[in-house]
Amino acid sequence: LKAVEHVRDGYVVGLGSGSTAAYAIKELGRRLRTGELTDVLGVPTSHQAAMTAVEAGVPLTTLYEHPEVDVAIDGADQIDPKLNLIKGLGAALTREKVVAESAKLFIVVADERKLVETLGGECPVPLEVLPFAVPRVLRELQKTALKAEVRHGTGKVGPIVTDNGNFIVDAHFERIEEPKELHKQLKAITGVLETGIFPGIAKIAYVGTKKAVKRMKRKI
Ligand code: A5P
Repeated sequence: LKAVEHVRDGYVVGLGSGSTAAYAIKELGRRLRTGELTDVLGVPTSHQAAMTAVEAGVPLTTLYEHPEVDVAIDGADQIDPKLNLIKGLGAALTREKVVAESAKLFIVVADERKLVETLGGECPVPLEVLPFAVPRVLRELQKTALKAEVRHGTGKVGPIVTDNGNFIVDAHFERIEEPKELHKQLKAITGVLETGIFPGIAKIAYVGTKKAVKRMKRKI
């Protein structure tokens, strides 16, 4: 709800994926229905976000029509104090990053369980990988990651397939002291299309705690 307060009439809004972002999409729809907001268009980051938006009554557009997004609102799997993120446990990381980077303002919404001092540990770094390149990527990851595995789904046999037709490899690291450097290193592996590390993209985070909503702002 706090994140949606940033949306003004006529804005193009990036619609994030996952259960937390869905609340923001529904709130956008509610505000459009009551007339508190008008002329808002959403750019969905996944089929899930698109379907939620259609149900909520948020009209959709694409980056082709609106390459500049006013504000993007999305969830995260881990958030460090500098607002570096790990995203992609919902396998939507690539489109999420494209939309986040197209936005003048990228806001993260999450609950306090997502806050960590250092990224990594229990949360793997999801990588979107070209299916043809998976064996090569896994071999390359043996050099740096504690463990790396192709993600398998529920409700489907075999690997999950992303909205872009690729596979997800979850790469585990103990503590990620330099998220930007690790992102660059992983992205340099041929066949890795995108990584779930979002270094320095988010400007604001609204974190729900049991008592209140905590607002975090990136300093640099
Ligand atoms: C999708 O790929 C992810 O980046 C989600 O944004 C993330 O998993 C957060 O989802 P929840 O809000 O459901 O925890």
